[in-house]
Amino acid sequence: MNTVRKLADGTEIPLLGLGVWQVGDGRECEDAVRWALEAGYRHIDTAQVYGNEESVGRAIRDSGVAREDIYITTKFAPARRDPVAELEGSLRRLGVDQVDLYLVHWPQGGPTRAWAGMQRARERGLARSIGVSNFDVGELAAVIALGGAAPVVNQIQFSPFEYRRALQDVCERHDIAVEAYSPLGTGRHLGDEALAAIAGRVGRTPAQVLIRWSLQRGLIVLPKSVHQDRIAQNFDVFGFDLGDDDLAALDALDRTGGTATAHEHPWW
Ligand code: A2P
Repeated sequence: MNTVRKLADGTEIPLLGLGVWQVGDGRECEDAVRWALEAGYRHIDTAQVYGNEESVGRAIRDSGVAREDIYITTKFAPARRDPVAELEGSLRRLGVDQVDLYLVHWPQGGPTRAWAGMQRARERGLARSIGVSNFDVGELAAVIALGGAAPVVNQIQFSPFEYRRALQDVCERHDIAVEAYSPLGTGRHLGDEALAAIAGRVGRTPAQVLIRWSLQRGLIVLPKSVHQDRIAQNFDVFGFDLGDDDLAALDALDRTGGTATAHEHPWW
């Protein structure tokens, strides 16, 4: 399996990234990013509201890995007014000239409110690609109806237990790549018995099975961990395949009815 895919705007994105939501600013975040880069990750996903962009930037600089070899995503905090001004702040904190991907973190104030500013950020070269997060089918349609550049990514909560098939189908029809956040259910799914049985059968951990499912279902996947062994384990998913029966058994864990919504309990 390829480890990167091409987005609709022609850029390439690594399929597996470290998500740093709920990773503490400072030592915890710097260690996690350093361990991820040592393990082979080349994709880090942060956000303005996570409050750890400075740590992400420091760890990247200290790693010795060339900036152009690392894919960096950050997200516009949509309670703020201007995506360009906020991205300039992110770039200062990260210590880079440009991010690879800039997402509207959630559709606050309506799905189209930030989009002109997001496009300006891209036109000015501050972000190579732009997209959205936590957008459902109707919200994507509203952005697409504006007629300018469409989002190339929609980052949503996604796992076999939240298999948002209808939303994924619409994204794929518009060449919008789906990124899975909380692919382990923020850890909650790891104790599931059906998952454990599949993991036992294929000789992998439950976390690896969930991450592999995401990859085989065509997603970009962003597991989070602050432990070195788990960070490495979560990246070690390119050397095995889940068979059709196991994929189908995982699909059947869905509790959303294949929903077109972005979340069952939106906080925005
Ligand atoms: P920790 O950060 O303490 O390692 P998600 O990616 O869905 O947000 O899930 C992240 C949660 O799952 C965190 O609580 C993380 O704990 C835990 N986690 C991540 N990877 C693994 C793993 N390989 N084995 C067990 N728990 C994991």
